Parts: sequence; C-alpha cells; structure tokens
Amino acid sequence: MATKKNKAASKTRKAGTGSRRNVPAAKKPVVLKKTVSGKDNTALRTELSALKKMVLLQKVKQELLTSKNIGSVELDTLLSNYLTVILKLTNTSAGSILMHDGESLVFRASAGPGSQKLIGRQLSTEEGIAGWVFKTGKTYLSSDVVRDTKWSSKISAEMRFPTRNILASPLTTSGGVIGVVEIINKAIGRPFGKEDKEMLDTLAGQLALDVAYTVLLSGSRLEAQRRTTQMELAMVLNSTLNQREVRQRAIEAVTSLLGAEVGSLLLVDERTKDLYFEVALGEKELQVKQMRLKMGEGIAGWVAANDQPALINDVQNDPRYFRRAQTITDFITRNMVCVPVRSRGGVIGVLQAVNKKDGGLFTEDDLEVCWTLANQVAVALENAHLYAELKETFLNTAEALAAAVEKKDPYTGGHIKRVVEYSAAIARHMSLSLNDVEALRLAAVLHDIGKIGIRDSVLLKEGGLNHEEICHMREHPLVGEDILGHIEQMKDVRKILRAHHEKWDGSGYPDGLKGESIPVHARIIAIADTFDAITTDRPYRKAADWRSAAEEIKRCSGTSYDPEIVDAFLRACEAGDITIVGG
Ligand SMILES: [Fe+2]
Ligand SMILES: [Fe+2]
Repeated sequence: MATKKNKAASKTRKAGTGSRRNVPAAKKPVVLKKTVSGKDNTALRTELSALKKMVLLQKVKQELLTSKNIGSVELDTLLSNYLTVILKLTNTSAGSILMHDGESLVFRASAGPGSQKLIGRQLSTEEGIAGWVFKTGKTYLSSDVVRDTKWSSKISAEMRFPTRNILASPLTTSGGVIGVVEIINKAIGRPFGKEDKEMLDTLAGQLALDVAYTVLLSGSRLEAQRRTTQMELAMVLNSTLNQREVRQRAIEAVTSLLGAEVGSLLLVDERTKDLYFEVALGEKELQVKQMRLKMGEGIAGWVAANDQPALINDVQNDPRYFRRAQTITDFITRNMVCVPVRSRGGVIGVLQAVNKKDGGLFTEDDLEVCWTLANQVAVALENAHLYAELKETFLNTAEALAAAVEKKDPYTGGHIKRVVEYSAAIARHMSLSLNDVEALRLAAVLHDIGKIGIRDSVLLKEGGLNHEEICHMREHPLVGEDILGHIEQMKDVRKILRAHHEKWDGSGYPDGLKGESIPVHARIIAIADTFDAITTDRPYRKAADWRSAAEEIKRCSGTSYDPEIVDAFLRACEAGDITIVGG
C-alpha cells in the first residue's frame, strides 16, 4: 500500500504536476504526499528515522544511568548513539566525536567509510579543524575544505575519503571544552547551513552535559563502591582470626577494589628474609606460588626493602622489574601498584595489584586505596598471628598436662599422641570444618585427662577390675569434664570429653547417648581410642596388628561406632594414613 502511494507521489513529482488540483479528489494521497509545512515523503521518513534514533538514544541514556557499572565501554556506546542521531538529523554521511584525554584529542566514536580504524587514534590539539575548535571553543563551518588552511588532509587521505565540507562544534561544560564533534559531507549538492549549525550546537551542548554527568556519576559510583567494599572488607577481616582467610580476603579485595587483572600478597620469610607468594589469584596461581624473591629483588622486593610504595604504569621499562617472573608465568605485567604491609616489627609483606583491567592505567587514587587496604590487612594479620600463637601455647599446655597424667600409667605411654594422630587421620577423610578439626585435636589431647582422678590401685591394676572398680574407672569422662568446668572457651571440648565412651547404639557411658546425639568429635575419638588399645601391649594381652584392629572396628560398625566414621577410618587405613605409631 505504502509502496504504491510512494510510486504515485514520485511519478507526480517527475511530471512536474505536484499540485493538488491535477489529482482526482477520490485518489488523493492523504498524508504522505505533502504535509502542511510542505515536506515530502523522503523528508518525513528521514525525520521519522531520526526520531526513532532519538528514542534509541534516550533508551541508551536511561540504561546507562541506571546500570551498576558505568565505564569507558558504556560511555563509548553513548557517544556512538549520539553520533548516529546527529548524522541523521543533519543528513550527513560521516562524522566523529573526539574527547580530550588530558593531552590530545582521541577519536571515541566515528561513522563513515573506514571509520572504525580511527577509534582510539590521537590527534594533537594543534592539528586540523577539530584542534582549532577545541582550542577556541567555537563552532566552525568549512564549505570547501580543500581551500581551507585550517583543514588537515592527513586523516582524510589515509582513509581515502574525499572530504568536501565539515561542520565542527565544541563539547563544552562548565569546566571548559572536553571534546569536539565534527560532521563531514552534507548530502550531495547541499552545503551545511545555519539550520545544521544550530542543530549541531544544540546536540553538542546536550552531549557535553550527558558526558559530564556520566563521568561524574561513574566517579561517585566507583567511590561509593570502593567505600562499601572497604567497609565490608574491614568487617570480614575483623570477623576472622584465621590467617589463611585473612590473606585470601586481602587478595580478593586488592584485585576488585583497584580493578586489576591479578592481585597478590607476598610475605617475608622470617628466617631467610625472602619474599614468597602466600596467595595469588588468577590462572597462573600455581606457578606464581612457587616463586621466591630475594629482599630487594624485583619491584616487590624493592618495595619491601625500602619500605616505600610503587605506582608503575610502564613496568616493562622499569629497571627494578624482575624479568624471570615473566618467563616462569608467561604473564606480561604492564602496570602495577605495590605497597608494603607494615606491622609493629617492620615490613611483613607486600600487597600488589597488577594490570589495570581494560588496558587502563593505575592512578594515585588506586595507590591510596591500596595503602588503606594494606594497613587493614596488617592489623588483621597481626591479630590472626597472635591468636594462632595463643592457640599453640594453649595446646602445648594441654599436651603437657595430658602427658603428666599419662606418666601415671606406664603401659599406656604415648596413647594420647597416637589418639591425636589417628583422630586427625580419620578427620582428613571426612568433610569437617577447620574449627571442628581444631576442636577435635584439643579434645583428643585431653580426652583421658579425667584419669587424674582415678585411684592408682584401679588405674594401674594388672588383672581384671571388679564391679566397683569398673564403676570408678568409668567416672573419668565426668572428672575430665569437671576439670575443664571453669574454662568458658572449653565448653565444646567438655562435651566431647564427657561423651568419648558413648556408643552409637546407646550402650555406652556415662549418659547412654545414641547416634548423632553424640558429638561427632567424640565418635571419632572413640574409634581412634579403640584402635590404639587393640594395637598396643597391655599387661594382660599382646598387641594385635592393625588389620585385626581394623576388622574388629568394622565388626562393631553400627553398634559401637558410627558407620560413616568407620568408613572414613577404613579409607584412612587403605590410604596408608593410619599406621601404627611407635609408643
Ligand atoms: Fe577414656
Ligand atoms: Fe583413651
């Protein structure tokens, strides 16, 4: 339908009989032939197309302003859409938007033959019409560029694009000119006119505002994002006293906060003073972890030795750069931020962010963020270190206490040490948390501490025990629980001590607990305890080999012992993780 009407309109024009009176009233094209303002179909279609592009541009702007990330990619999309609309509205075939990067003008959007090659290209502010417009802040119209002294033919010649006329407007904000938009070659036979200039100035003004707003928004969002991440990091760092977790979180934070491809934490080896990669993120983690740097070697070594930060945007030409790292990891370092991690005793490590994402450069702001982060990490590492020392001291004290009790019974010498090792071996074949493994170790050390309250005549008796003696002996889990009764931090360990002679089917003591109501640590210790009892000499019998002991434990699976833990125990035996330890 529309095609027929268009053809009719076209025929009418060609015949030079475009007036209404020559067309029969019943066949008059109602809308498309002529409008009140005298525009024909082509003009209408052009306007409709421009309107659609405007709608698209508004959509892009809306998406940009509501998106979480506003970066250079999003800004380029905005510029490219603006350029499309500008070209449509001015009926022009080619054009570019150049933004000032602090030194020169950079082609950020371009349309027309071969225009993609121009993206990213730099142009001096002294060069061509765009340079003049940028420096003067004035719009410039050149109707015949070949005769125009301001015009630089260099790019046009390279593109093999015959430039005839140019209209260029500055992108101006309250802070000055930030770029230039230029349109080239108005449709054949029509030079750029006053209407085009007004149109371009208006759109350039709007574009400049949108760019300024986008940059501002992007900056404030980035800042807000950084603050949130820093707060979250501080919370995470303070919520754990686990050294490994602190290190892992530090790397994740430095990588995301600085927008880096890779982050790493190097620690100073207290003995050799070498730097080693404790944790590294990224594909080359394994290779990176094997590397060590001498104090002063490479950029990280320099940072540690001099206790100074480094912000390097051209690493390949930095004399401090450690080239062997590149050979080992096959990873090209372009730029980096590297800061010392200081503790009370001096530099304990180096935190670094490597290669800004999307080919960007690190800034002084990044360095500052890295400093803040390194200070938080230093405090968290120090706390975790002190806590680890405290725990170690505590465990040593517990071991000393358990050893003192054990000395009372020469036949069971080394029992504690073995039960600790067997329990740990079983735990390795189960999916226990780190906290559970630590609690298990402590409980295994202390499990028989209650024997301190058992009379020697019963504890050291070589023959069988009578009923009263058995009852007395069976009090040791309760005595153990009582001994630790005043230590709040030992609440969970107390429960394990009390339950280490309970049985899966409820036939154990002192409470006759059944199944999973027995703490898992106690169920593990029960198996380790029995295994050691069977595989060591007693006054009344000789030690059995580990296979017989394993068979006996297997036989009691589901009655005395938790079947799943028996399976884990058997897996540990198969893997050679449980071998009889000499007492
Ligand atoms: Fe016991
Ligand atoms: Fe025991």
